Amino acid sequence: MATIRRRLTLWYTVALAVTVLAFGTALYLERRQASIRELDQRLSLEADLAQRWLSQSYSVLGRIVTTSNLKPSLDPGISAYLEATRDYLIVADTGGQVLGLSDIARTLNAPALERLTAPLDTLPLTRHSGELSLPPPIGSVRYLVVLVDNAGPLVGGLLVATPTKQASFGPSDLLRSMLLIAPLILLGAGLLGYWLAGTSLRPVQGIMDEVDAISDGTSLHRRLAVPLSGDEMARLAATVNGMLARLEQSFSSLHRFTADASHELKTPLMVLRAGVERALVHPGTPSEILQSLDETLAQINQMTEIVENLLTLARADEGRAPLAVEETDLRELVADVAETAGMLGESAGVTAVHTMPDEPVRLAVDRHRIREMLLNMVTNAIKYTPQGGTVTLRLEDNADSVTITVRDTGIGIAPGDLPHIFERFWRADPARSRTGERPGTGLGLAITKWIAEAHGGSITVQSRPGRGSSFTVRLPKMEAGVT
Ligand SMILES: Nc1ncnc2c1ncn2[C@@H]1O[C@H](COP(=O)(O)OP(=O)(O)O)[C@@H](O)[C@H]1O
Ligand SMILES: [Mg+2]
Repeated sequence: MATIRRRLTLWYTVALAVTVLAFGTALYLERRQASIRELDQRLSLEADLAQRWLSQSYSVLGRIVTTSNLKPSLDPGISAYLEATRDYLIVADTGGQVLGLSDIARTLNAPALERLTAPLDTLPLTRHSGELSLPPPIGSVRYLVVLVDNAGPLVGGLLVATPTKQASFGPSDLLRSMLLIAPLILLGAGLLGYWLAGTSLRPVQGIMDEVDAISDGTSLHRRLAVPLSGDEMARLAATVNGMLARLEQSFSSLHRFTADASHELKTPLMVLRAGVERALVHPGTPSEILQSLDETLAQINQMTEIVENLLTLARADEGRAPLAVEETDLRELVADVAETAGMLGESAGVTAVHTMPDEPVRLAVDRHRIREMLLNMVTNAIKYTPQGGTVTLRLEDNADSVTITVRDTGIGIAPGDLPHIFERFWRADPARSRTGERPGTGLGLAITKWIAEAHGGSITVQSRPGRGSSFTVRLPKMEAGVT
């Protein structure tokens, strides 16, 4: 969850960074191009003005070039106008010899000036523009060469130029601002993306929580709330609901099958038992047959017990095992079970004792189920306690609950076995099979746990091998019988 959120945020931020970068680059290049266009326009304007000045002066004066010291140059009156130009301006004769310079062009050193006049040397002279690089600190310049053919035979053309630094000043400023702002934008976008991802993934979190609550096995009838949005979340919820429905169906058919099978087995078992019992009391039955009939009867009883336990558990799973709850004095039940324990213990050589309060312990419970639960625990205690041991049955009335403890001094349970003892058909020592010295089916504690939980209570166990075990059932006073 957290990783999807982080991944989404990362991708979102990266995508935005790329977009911002591409946008910024495009903007920068476009701005630069536009600045150069503006520069070219300015140069062209200046060149046209100078050309017109020269040609008009020529048509008025008839002569604009003077030759002093063998070097031809523009008349001072003419060049004074041109000197004021704020860009580099060079007027040359047809051979590329310089006739006049603007003030700023005069500041150039010899090599720079020579490089700048180079475009005027290429004959025949035509109007063209381009870029030149001059020695630092001027750097590259944008220039425009214009042919001047109507200002007398001595004037050939002129060149105007200006450093591109001027033009790129705007865009490079832009670049710097963008570099400053971009991290802020990305940080903001990252936070926004993180929040957005969290918001859009929240329904998934909700669905996960709901599924968690449902998949405890007893809530398969529950369904997820399908959002009305009709988006992916709605489809996900609907899909999970479909899966839950199929799961519920297969679970319930499994439970139904177990319940039906156990139910169907009950009648034939009863008929079988009646038949074997009748044969046992028949006077003509030979003694060796009697013994095998005895064993058969024991097996039939065992099987009847399994079938009945299975039926109970299957009905509980189906939710078809309602509790017949009534107000009961638990002391009666405990005394009753203790009496049975006394009889069972006597034949096993185990002492059974019980302690309980003097006051009645009233609680709304299903008497038969609680009795069954206590009998399960007590028979286990006696079964797994060697001769000479003690089984203690204790009833306690607490403020908000009633606890019943069955403690024995028997063989105990290995720590590794403790988590399994409430599982169906689980037995610590299956080798001592069903009819051996400790017969059993492994269903008793599963039923005991179900009965405790059906009353809203719980069962816990403490045990150490060789030191005995202690099973404690806690029944809450408030919720008794609610489940
Ligand atoms: N009081 C106990 N002392 C030692 N082991 C016990 C005790 N109660 C239960 N167990 C262990 O838990 C297993 C499951 O008990 P249970 O479900 O009642 O089946 P069963 O009594 O038919 O064997 C038993 O097989 C036994 O190994
Ligand atoms: Mg048992």
